[in-house]
Amino acid sequence: MTSTPHTSDTTSPTSAADRPALPGTMTAVRQRRYGRPGDVLSVESVPVPTPAHDEVLVRVEAASLNPADWHRTVGEPMILRLTDGLRAPARPIPGSDAAGVVVAVGAGVASRSVGDPVVICRGGAFAEYVAVPAERTVLRPEGLAADEAAGLGVAGVTAWQAVMEHGAVRPGQTVVVNGASGGVGHYAVQLAVEAGAHVIGICSGRNAELVAELGAAQVIDYTTSSPAEVVREADLVIDLIGLDADDAAAMLADHGTWLVLGMPKDGRIVGPMIWVAKAMWRFARRPQTCKTFVAEETPERLRQLVERAGEGRLRTSIDRVLPLSEVVAAYHHLETGRTVGKIVLVP
Ligand SMILES: NC(=O)c1ccc[n+]([C@@H]2O[C@H](COP(=O)([O-])OP(=O)(O)OC[C@H]3O[C@@H](n4cnc5c(N)ncnc54)[C@H](OP(=O)(O)O)[C@@H]3O)[C@@H](O)[C@H]2O)c1
Repeated sequence: MTSTPHTSDTTSPTSAADRPALPGTMTAVRQRRYGRPGDVLSVESVPVPTPAHDEVLVRVEAASLNPADWHRTVGEPMILRLTDGLRAPARPIPGSDAAGVVVAVGAGVASRSVGDPVVICRGGAFAEYVAVPAERTVLRPEGLAADEAAGLGVAGVTAWQAVMEHGAVRPGQTVVVNGASGGVGHYAVQLAVEAGAHVIGICSGRNAELVAELGAAQVIDYTTSSPAEVVREADLVIDLIGLDADDAAAMLADHGTWLVLGMPKDGRIVGPMIWVAKAMWRFARRPQTCKTFVAEETPERLRQLVERAGEGRLRTSIDRVLPLSEVVAAYHHLETGRTVGKIVLVP
């Protein structure tokens, strides 16, 4: 299905008179300290933010949850607090990914208008309204539902960087996605298939049908067989779970790359850094490469994903849709590690 992109009137910024009346307060998730989601997250009534000169105010239609939100709420690994706030989160409203509609624009914004449907990649998304720099929004095509678009930010961009940039996947290559049914994995499978790769998805049996539908040529159920005994000569292993280094090496061709993005949640202080350092050390004398990266949600990367989703070339599998008031239940489900695709929160 091809969608019509929305276009903004770039010549006439919306005047105050055009703006629909906005409420003074909104419902939002608040976090005043680090801790377990059930202890530190509350749903409160707070003032609706006023967009600054270069910002737009977006009415959130759907937001999505990522493991990164869990880490930021718990405040672990503690090294995150150097940027997120030493004693308490600097950003009191969590959430990074959302889709909605522009309801007000700052005086200096010419690229967006009231009524524009957008996807945002900026914090404070677990609320009815969020003010974001206009440049951090991407126009959402007609026909791309907010709940599908809301998943594309962190998970989609991570998959994009893994497949298109760090992996630089080319037609005919063999790409293994470990954790193929999760938020990042289900996008990575689709992008690698689009790039022309022979994709092998690793997931549990209950998700095998989904991963095959997304385009994987082969699906390995990790609960019944060991991928390291089945896969050989892969060009790229996108690892969202944390393989043993010997297992990863066994699956790769000599020139192959183990791209480590997910790993066990250990290490309260520096978190995955030690795990990744050990993985790299164990690969140091091998012909293969071990790499990692931290995703960077740029509007350009998000635009590539939104375009594909609008054209029906990239699908979001939605695990469940919960009201914002059930944010703690959403975190608890994420914590199980069993999420299939994305968890969506609706204000
Ligand atoms: N470096 C970065 O910038 C970056 C960015 C985004 C995410 N990440 C990390 O990447 C990881 C994945 O993120 P996500 O959003 O995709 O998480 P997610 O949605 O929570 O992933 C859950 C999925 O993992 C599957 N799974 C669990 N154990 C598995 C195993 N042993 N083998 C294969 N699949 C397994 C589950 O399926 P079953 O229940 O069927 O097993 C479930 O579908 C997280 O650790 C996250 O922190 C890193």
